[in-house]
Order: sequence, then C-alpha cells, then structure tokens
Amino acid sequence: MRNIQYIIFVALAITATVQGCTDSLASGTGCYCGAGSYGQSSDNQGTGCQACPKGSNSAQASGTTTIAACTTCKDTNSTNNQNAAAPACYCNAGYYGDPTAATPITCTACPKGSNSAASTTASTIAACTTCKDTNSTNNQNAAAPACYCNAGYYGDPTAATPITCTACPKGSNSAASTTASTIAACTTCKDTNAVNNASTSTPACACKASYYGDPTASPAVTCQGCPNGQTSAVGSTASTGCVVCTDANGTVVLSGNTGSCVCAANYYGNPTTTGTSGCTQCGSGQTAPVGSTTNVCKSSFSSLLLPILSFLSFVMLMLF
Ligand SMILES: *[C@@H]1O[C@H](CO)[C@@H](O)[C@H](O)[C@H]1NC(C)=O
Ligand SMILES: *[C@@H]1O[C@H](CO)[C@@H](O)[C@H](O)[C@H]1NC(C)=O
Ligand SMILES: *[C@@H]1O[C@H](CO)[C@@H](O)[C@H](O)[C@H]1NC(C)=O
Ligand SMILES: *[C@@H]1O[C@H](CO)[C@@H](O)[C@H](O)[C@H]1NC(C)=O
Repeated sequence: MRNIQYIIFVALAITATVQGCTDSLASGTGCYCGAGSYGQSSDNQGTGCQACPKGSNSAQASGTTTIAACTTCKDTNSTNNQNAAAPACYCNAGYYGDPTAATPITCTACPKGSNSAASTTASTIAACTTCKDTNSTNNQNAAAPACYCNAGYYGDPTAATPITCTACPKGSNSAASTTASTIAACTTCKDTNAVNNASTSTPACACKASYYGDPTASPAVTCQGCPNGQTSAVGSTASTGCVVCTDANGTVVLSGNTGSCVCAANYYGNPTTTGTSGCTQCGSGQTAPVGSTTNVCKSSFSSLLLPILSFLSFVMLMLF
C-alpha cells in the first residue's frame, strides 16, 4: 500500500508540473512570474503575478520581482520611463504615438524636418513641435504640417535630404513658407521704393525708376528719390543715375511727385530722358490731364461751345 500511495503522489506531482503553475502569469519550473509580468506568484505564496504596464515587457523571473522588472518595450521606438507619472513605455524623442494604449498606437517618426521631445505620456503628431533647421518653423496649419522656412528664407527642411533654409538674396524677402520653397519665393523687397527683378536665378531688389540707392548692399543703401525735374532708370545705384527730363514735348514734373517726369496737360505717353519724345499731343481741341500715360484725350466743353455759339450767332444774323 505504501508503494501505491508513493506512486500516486509522484504521479500527481508529475501531472502538476506538466500542467504548469496555478498562477496564470507564472511559468517555468519554479513557477516564478513569466515574461511580461512581475511580482510573486501565488505558487510561491505571493499575491500573484501582475501584467507589466501596457507596452512594456519583462524577462522570465527567477525570484520575486517588482514593476521595475518591466524594462523592455514592445515598440522599438519607445523607452520605458519609470519616472513618468504613470511609468510605462512612451515614444522616443522624434516620434509620436501611444504604445500603452489598449490597442497600441505605433511610435511614428515626426514629419521630416521636425522633432519631438521624449514622451512621458501618449502623444500625437502635435508633439512634433521643434524644427531641426533653426531657420524654419513648424506649421501645424499647413496642408502638410511640417517645418518650413521662415520669412526671409527659402529651402526645404522636409526633403528626404533636407535643403537648409537659406537667407534670401540681400534686399529681398520671402513670406513664411507653407511648402518647400526655392529662391523664387524671395519676391518682395525690404525697401518699399525698390522692385524685385524676379529673375529666379538671381532675384534682386533694385531701386525703382526715379530713385537711386542699393538695397542689396551691406548695409543697404536706401532708395532715394531723384531731385525734382529728374528721373532715373530702374536699378540706379547713385545720384548720377538721375537725369533731367529732356523730352521737348510738354514734359513737366509734378511737385510732390519727386523725380518722376510726366507728360504735360494735353499730352499723353511716357517721357523719355533721351531727347526723343515719349509724349504725344492730343488732337486739335482735345484735352488730357497732366500725367496721362495713355490716349485719354477728349473734346472739351469750351472747344465745342465756341463753334456752336458761332453757328448760332451766324443764324441770328441771317434771320434778323
Ligand atoms: C522605428 O523607427 C524606424 C525609423 O523611423 C522604423 O524604420 C521602424 O519601423 C520603427 N519600428 C517600429 C516597430 O515601428
Ligand atoms: C540661420 O540663418 C542665419 C542667418 O542667416 C545663419 O547664420 C545660420 O547659419 C542659419 N542656420 C542654419 C542652421 O542654417
Ligand atoms: C536681377 O538682378 C541681379 C543682380 O543685380 C542680376 O544679376 C540679374 O541678372 C538680374 N536679372 C534680371 C532678369 O534682370
Ligand atoms: C513733339 O510732338 C510733335 C507732334 O506730336 C512731333 O511732330 C514732334 O516731333 C515732337 N517733338 C519731339 C522733339 O519729339
């Protein structure tokens, strides 16, 4: 009988070992907490193994362990942050997502050109706020939220191989970008009396007609109006570029309209500085205001009135 009892005991023991541990999270010959859990198993007179925080993992224990055993993260782009308010695996710097969610949200790389700080909570794309290129800004309102060049710069920090944001040519400016941009974005001029020649190869701001200066110089030389009665070609850099309006046909200079030559009253066109006329006189009896650039000549009331009055006088004379 003793032998039979012994055999039954051994058989039960073997069965227990084969069937595993009572604690569902315990495993191994010692029935310690298995991979993905921590604590002291009920098999070892403990309160039972607990699952690691979501997103994190532990190795098979060989004794009693604490939550600190849950060091590895399932998502390779996350890190176990034991100092976070809720210790768990959160996305690394440069990534956003939520490895701790019931259905984990994979840590995804921030849009190209942007960065996030290491997360201490679940995070969204909104965490990707910083820009790698210091001359770019993260525009979350752009059609494709990403880091784009600041006003006054052009480039593409979002490209697979980022194109550094480069300052616009001197004197020119660009609006803050909402997409990749090229030097062609540098269209506006800092000097309000300058114009951009808009050449995409070498866009540059030059003083407008009747002004002189150098908006591209370092420091910039402000565009100044030519003296009254004088004009200059676009891009004149010195006062010597200002020449007297020499158009013989009715050229005048309006006071307050510094430097610009305009056609006199009853003329229209664009005065030249070469002596050849750019102003054409209106037809007989027609008038046009000072500064007309197109043929806006009209018969005036007085020029019509005179022949009518003459005709009426003639009729009166004949009748009486
Ligand atoms: C981690 O990030 C890298 C690079 O962004 C990516 O290739 C990889 O698939 C990511 N790993 C996971 C598990 O998503
Ligand atoms: C940003 O622009 C400044 C001034 O144009 C320049 O000195 C600096 O190198 C730029 N930064 C980078 C990262 O290119
Ligand atoms: C624009 O200005 C720059 C600098 O003065 C010059 O090199 C370029 O040829 C100009 N382009 C055009 C189209 O005028
Ligand atoms: C002035 O205008 C008249 C008629 O419009 C023209 O015949 C004459 O050649 C012009 N004079 C000059 C100097 O251009």
